[in-house]
Order: sequence, then structure tokens, then C-alpha cells
Amino acid sequence: MKEKLNDLRQNYNKFELVEESVPKNPLELFKIWFEDTKNSEILEANAMTLGTVSSDGQVKLRVVLLKEYGVEGFTFFTNYNSEKGKNISFNNKASLLFFWDRLHRQVRIEGEIVKVCREETLEYFNSRPYESKIGAIASNQSSELESRESLEERYNKLLIDYPENPPCPENWGGYVLKPSYIEFWQGRESRLHDRIVYEFTNDWQIKRLYP
Ligand SMILES: Cc1cc2nc3c(=O)[nH]c(=O)nc-3n(C[C@H](O)[C@H](O)[C@H](O)COP(=O)(O)O)c2cc1C
Repeated sequence: MKEKLNDLRQNYNKFELVEESVPKNPLELFKIWFEDTKNSEILEANAMTLGTVSSDGQVKLRVVLLKEYGVEGFTFFTNYNSEKGKNISFNNKASLLFFWDRLHRQVRIEGEIVKVCREETLEYFNSRPYESKIGAIASNQSSELESRESLEERYNKLLIDYPENPPCPENWGGYVLKPSYIEFWQGRESRLHDRIVYEFTNDWQIKRLYP
């Protein structure tokens, strides 16, 4: 089977991105774009694709939710024993990708990942709804699961074991990606898109790439 998608085509003509108007620090531009996204009709502005590499060199992608960003980097929470956790402990170089379709924007981020401190993990874990806490305990994320029923059984048993204040599992917590490369892509007419890249050496250097 072969489906041609030649007719699926969008015109990108909403905004432009010019060197003269971009801040020196990419986090400031990220903040402007993130706020624009929050104010748009995009459902989950903070959903980002995380790319890691497995020990046999296979690139692995999945969506996670950005929970904090700032000078330290970009933070998300997960199970440290998951596939992504194993990938990161093998190779902590990783990538993040945001695609905000309504705004014709893409942000690519590269850098190194470290675990956030336990206090920060606990602070975030404790802020989560009760059911999400139980869900985190119930899931051996990325391990093979015998059946849907066995997951629900585990979950229901945990509801009884922990009627309140479920503890944060040791293998659950945050990661922060410290960026060394951030690229902002703004779709433009005739596929002449704007690509402004910030690269960190001693300071952030800005350059433009061909689209
Ligand atoms: C919108 C969305 C948000 C998600 N957020 C998270 C998240 O914040 N943390 C997480 O561990 N998994 C999240 N997931 C699930 C992951 O995409 C993935 O299935 C899971 O983390 C297992 O990935 P792994 O086997 O590569 O480790 C999310 C999925 C979607 C579609």
C-alpha cells in the first residue's frame, strides 16, 4: 500500500524571526514563544518530544511534559528505570523538540541531562493528584506488562495500601536537560523559513541557518 500525501500542504505566513529583534539569551525567546503558545489554541503547550540514544545506538523518541524551565534547563519527570532512564544513564546527551503547529513554530534543544535533586522531585511529586501518585507507583514503566487487568489490579491494591500520602518511589523523579544548542524555527512564505540558532561556548552565540 502507498498513500500519496502531496495535497497536504500548509502556508506558513504568521510571523517572522529576525536577528535584530531576538534577545541575547535564548531562554528569553523561549519564554516569549512559550507564552504565545499558552495563549493559543494548542492543547498541551508543554508537550515535547524527548530524543535519547540506546546503548546499541538506536535513537528513541517519546513525548514527555515540560514541568519547569529556567537557567538550570528544561525539567521533566519520569521513571528512572524506564527505557529513557536507561538510555540517559548510558548517554546523557539528549534532544527536546517542540512543534507548535498553530504558530508555525518549532524549537529544537540539545544538551546534557542530569537528575534533579531529590527535594525537587519530592516537591513536584507531592503536588500531583493522588491518582497520579498511585499511577506512578503502579507502573514499572517500559517493562513488559502481562495484561491490562494486572495493571488495574496493582493500581487497586495500591489504593488500599496507601489511602493517603502515597510515597514517591525511589526510581521516580526529575531530569533536567541543560541546553548547549537551541534553535528557533519560524515557518515563512515559499518555504523560506527563519532559523535562528543559539549555541553556547563561553556565552550564547547567535547565527542564522538556511531553511
Ligand atoms: C502528551 C503526553 C505526555 C506524556 N508525558 C510524560 C511524562 O511527563 N513523563 C513520562 O514518563 N511519560 C510521559 N508520557 C509517556 C511517554 O511518551 C512514554 O510512553 C513513556 O514515558 C515511556 O517511554 P520510554 O519507554 O521511552 O521510557 C507522555 C505521553 C504523551 C503522549
